[in-house]
Amino acid sequence: MSLSEEALRAALTERSGAAWVTPILVHAETGSTNDDAKALAREGAAAGTLVVADAQTKGRGRSGASWHSPPGENVYLSLVLRPALAASAVAPLTLVVGLAVRDAVARRVGRPVLVKWPNDVLVDEKKLAGILIEGQVRGDALASIVVGIGVNVAVRAFPPPLDAIATSLAIAGASDLDRSTLVAEIVRNVARETERFAAQGLAPFLERLASNDALSGREVTVGGARGVARGIDALGRLRVELADGSVHAAVSGHVEVSPRG
Ligand code: BTN
Repeated sequence: MSLSEEALRAALTERSGAAWVTPILVHAETGSTNDDAKALAREGAAAGTLVVADAQTKGRGRSGASWHSPPGENVYLSLVLRPALAASAVAPLTLVVGLAVRDAVARRVGRPVLVKWPNDVLVDEKKLAGILIEGQVRGDALASIVVGIGVNVAVRAFPPPLDAIATSLAIAGASDLDRSTLVAEIVRNVARETERFAAQGLAPFLERLASNDALSGREVTVGGARGVARGIDALGRLRVELADGSVHAAVSGHVEVSPRG
C-alpha cells in the first residue's frame, strides 16, 4: 500500500504505458493536491505533471465542501493537463473523467459502478470517488486544467455524516488495492479520454454515460427543479422530466435523489 514516486513511476511506465506523466510529486501530507497542482500550473508546469498525496489536511470537494482525506488508505491525485479546449467547453469533462475513473475501478468491483451527474462515481448508491476540475484561464483562453480525483480505496469506516453516503473499494469487495497501480490506470484513462473529448466533444461518450448513469429514472431535485432524471444531453446537461411533461436541462448544481419509492 506504499505510495512512492518510484512505485508510481514503475506503474505508469510498465503497466499503463504513460511514461510521459512527469514530474510526479508525492507528498506524505499536503493541504490539497489541487492547490499544489494549480500553483505548479501557474508556474508553467507541463501537461502530465502529477501530484499525489498520502493525506490531505484541506482536501476540497465541489462547492467548498471538504474531502475526507485520512492517511494510508485512499487515492488523492491532481493531474495538470493542457487540452485544446475553450474555457466554456470544460464543464462536461467532469463526466468524461467520471467514466475514466469508473473504468479503472469497475473490474475490481463485482457490481455496477455508476457515474452520478455531475462529478461522482457511485457503488451501491454511495460515493466511491469524486472529481474536481479547476481551469486556469489566461485572457479568453484556457491555459491549463487541474483534474483532481479522490477515490476511497481501503477505508472501512467513515465519520458521520459521511458514513451514510460514502463507500470504498474495500467495502465494495475489491481485492486488488495497490494504490500505485490504481493511480496509473486512472491517469492513463483520464489522459486518453480528455484528449478524445478535446478532439470530438461529448458525442463519443454519450452511450457509455447512458449505460452507466446512476440517476436515470430516479426522482431528483436539482436547482429547484424536481422530476425524473432522463439522462445526459449532448451538452452534458442533466435532463429532468417535470410533472407537466416538460424537460428541464440542468447545467450545474447538486442533485438530491429521492429514496426509492
Ligand atoms: C467532490 O466530490 O466534490 C470532488 C472531490 C475531489 C477530491 C479530490 S482529492 C484530490 C484533489 N485535491 C483536492 O483538494 N480535491 C481533489
